[in-house]
Amino acid sequence: MNYLDFNGVGFGYSEQTPILSQVNLTIGQGERVLILGANGSGKSTLGLLAAGVLQPTRGQLTVGESRHPIRRGIVFQNSRSQMVGASVQEDLAFGLTVLNRPAKEIREKVEQYLEMFGLASKREHGVHQLSGGELRRLGLAAVLITEPDLIVLDEPLAMLDQANQEIVLKILTTLIPKNTAVIWLDHDLRSVRHMPTRYILTPEGHVEPVTLDMLNSREFLAEHGLRPAPLQALEWKYPHLIKNAILGPKAIEVNHHA
Ligand SMILES: Nc1ncnc2c1ncn2[C@@H]1O[C@H](COP(=O)(O)OP(=O)(O)OP(=O)(O)O)[C@@H](O)[C@H]1O
Ligand SMILES: [Mg+2]
Repeated sequence: MNYLDFNGVGFGYSEQTPILSQVNLTIGQGERVLILGANGSGKSTLGLLAAGVLQPTRGQLTVGESRHPIRRGIVFQNSRSQMVGASVQEDLAFGLTVLNRPAKEIREKVEQYLEMFGLASKREHGVHQLSGGELRRLGLAAVLITEPDLIVLDEPLAMLDQANQEIVLKILTTLIPKNTAVIWLDHDLRSVRHMPTRYILTPEGHVEPVTLDMLNSREFLAEHGLRPAPLQALEWKYPHLIKNAILGPKAIEVNHHA
């Protein structure tokens, strides 16, 4: 089943400067899609369209199917702008309150998500009392607690240290249900190994498929303003020694005999 169907979608914040010109893209149930693009290429704009925060100024965006409406959620690039409650627990309860869930269910689910996301000791804290990592976990928890069919992640690893990146990746790989579709937006290629389907947002405002061969090319990355994955630079320097750096530590092949 199609969750999102972009058909010739265009968008501009003003008429004179379109950001996206012709986006054609379909995302189905449980599909995991990475969309790469340079700074300012329109990733966040595309994410806001996918999540229904913005509406296309051209073309058509079909959401779900008539008999199967879908629920969408977005984890913003800047988690601070996402928090709507005065405290962590109020923030977690907000989405369920909007969905008109019974008070008992809300209380139980908030408890469960506070535990799952390691935020139980911060339940009374306000947004300014949270670290970057806690804030990102809250952003993810506040979206996932509503059990969306589709979730947009706007640079989910940005501004996090290594330890917090690992925590967020663990959440993304273990706590997102199989049938939930995911759109991950990024300019950093460390995201590539986590997402099987990969596109690039071109300077012309299109979304085109990219292959691993393209993403392994130093020239391609420079031309498109993308940041290499860890160890990719090492592979370019010693191609006879190391392979598959883009796919992460488990996939890397080291030629000990070279
Ligand atoms: N609310 C807005 N009003 C006017 N222009 C905007 C607005 N938001 C973004 N833009 C412009 O739209 C273009 C695309 O911005 P967007 O934030 O979608 O890019 P991005 O790829 O997410 O960038 P980054 O990698 O820095 O997050 C930029 O030129 C930006 O200045
Ligand atoms: Mg952005």
